[in-house]
Amino acid sequence: MPILDIVKYPETILAERTEPVSEFDEDLRELAADMVATMYAAPGIGLAAPQVGRSERICVIDLSVGEDPDDLMVLVNPRVVAEEGGVREEEGCLSFPDIMLVVPRPERVVVEAQDLDGNPIRVEGDELLARCLHHEIDHLDGVLFIDRVSPLKRDLARRKIKRRIKADDW
Ligand code: NI
Repeated sequence: MPILDIVKYPETILAERTEPVSEFDEDLRELAADMVATMYAAPGIGLAAPQVGRSERICVIDLSVGEDPDDLMVLVNPRVVAEEGGVREEEGCLSFPDIMLVVPRPERVVVEAQDLDGNPIRVEGDELLARCLHHEIDHLDGVLFIDRVSPLKRDLARRKIKRRIKADDW
């Protein structure tokens, strides 16, 4: 399971909408396994296909970062079908190393997706899991956490990133 390179902002693939998966084949399994290995190596609690340069609609989530096998979720074609409440919390993103932003997200989400065999699955999450599901599904729609903060905060973050790119620290 090779560890893949993580695509960083402002690479254009991060702003593109992914394509629904229709073939549940060995290639998809391999991509999922590589994404899980890459997420654990980072380490992170979630990773979406565009972050490894791919346009399939798939993401992986594991709040335990590999500690608890029951926590690993591989979500193919996920979509948020219901959301409730709103909460502002600090979060990060593997495509934005060392950038933390306070982002408004729903308090609770219901997600419908498919597993690697194409079987329908349903996930309900609140608190951190809701935040993570919402963040990763955003990635699959080409939406980044920086898009969900105020224009002022977005501008500040962009300037910080620009400086770091210039200093070769990105
Ligand atoms: Ni992210």
